[in-house]
Amino acid sequence: MTYNKKTIEDVEVSGKKVLVRCDFNVPLKDGVITSDKRIVEAIPTIRYLLDRKAAVILCSHMGKPKGEVNMKYTLAPVAARLTELLGQNVPLAPDTIGEGAKKMAAALEPGQAMLLENTRFDKREEANDPEFAKELASMAELFVNDAFGAAHRAHASTAGVAMYGGLPAVCGYLIQKEISVMGKALEDPARPFVAILGGAKVSDKIGVINNLLDKVDTIIVGGGMAYTFFKAKGCDVGSSICEYDKLDLANSMLEKARERKVNFLLPVDNIIGREYKEDTIFMRIYSDSIPDGWMGLDIGEKTQELFSKSIEGAGTIVWNGPMGVSEWPNFAGGTMAVAKAVADSGAVSIIGGGDSAAAVEKLGFADKMTHVSTGGGASLEFLEGRELPGISCLQDK
Ligand code: 3PG
Repeated sequence: MTYNKKTIEDVEVSGKKVLVRCDFNVPLKDGVITSDKRIVEAIPTIRYLLDRKAAVILCSHMGKPKGEVNMKYTLAPVAARLTELLGQNVPLAPDTIGEGAKKMAAALEPGQAMLLENTRFDKREEANDPEFAKELASMAELFVNDAFGAAHRAHASTAGVAMYGGLPAVCGYLIQKEISVMGKALEDPARPFVAILGGAKVSDKIGVINNLLDKVDTIIVGGGMAYTFFKAKGCDVGSSICEYDKLDLANSMLEKARERKVNFLLPVDNIIGREYKEDTIFMRIYSDSIPDGWMGLDIGEKTQELFSKSIEGAGTIVWNGPMGVSEWPNFAGGTMAVAKAVADSGAVSIIGGGDSAAAVEKLGFADKMTHVSTGGGASLEFLEGRELPGISCLQDK
């Protein structure tokens, strides 16, 4: 899917009231933000608007409060972080489209910013209710969507405002950056083009594998999903995670790779454990067959070497999904080795997906990558070649 959408630079923003949809759905622990990447990445758009004396009404969802007001999911920590990052007060409205929010929006002066409360506190948000979308739009003169992470959701604040709100609708810098970097990788990649796919399930990645098999030179598969491929090839998988109903599908993907002459790499050795537990006993086996009573939890050293060799010579790399249970130190070695190889490769490197992005950040390699996407589901759907409703609804150039 290629997009050529108007951006904030293509419309008059000076002195305007602008509704900006961001994805401020950031991870929190005990009310404290543990990664502010999504907030930091929204700043260039907000800055641009504030510098031009727009009055900026920010909005976002947070978590899954299921259409009810639940202060566990308040955007208060986000308002506080925005205030720090922008160096000016960003007050949080007491509600999303109620009297309190509307009063604050009406009084907002040029060059000021405010944040509406969680859009998902109202069940009409996820239903993409036209009335809810119109109420949001009524506070502003222009809609800017910069919520790449939520662009795969056709909700009132992501798509409805543009569809029913009667406002001009354009994208911000973050959406522009995400779709141009990932779009170029898919349409016109520097070769060899290597895709690295991991994570637990083949079923989560069917669309991505199918779409990428038409474009890449090499596919590297690690993580839990490798065991479904092992089983499909006739190897033993012990008690590893395995989707027994996807074995035919796995075989058809291997067949498609052969037909298209795509190099399809699977692990050749594994780190196996007794149980799915951080402190389980574990050992390395020099084989792609896993004994009974054991489960694969990471790729082994030979596999690290094999994968790293392909990664070294790549022109473009797209990586989605960790190679093992990377949040547990005993099983993070494979993900670490792949992250290092990608970082050292000199290739255009794109990290898509929540888990792989979090792993790369935690392991300290984020700065070495060309692009770490802010989208989880959204980047997966983009890599699948699917239409993203939060982007399709925006004005074409
Ligand atoms: C994400 O975290 O991937 C986005 O914010 C979308 O959240 P959702 O999966 O709850 O719609």
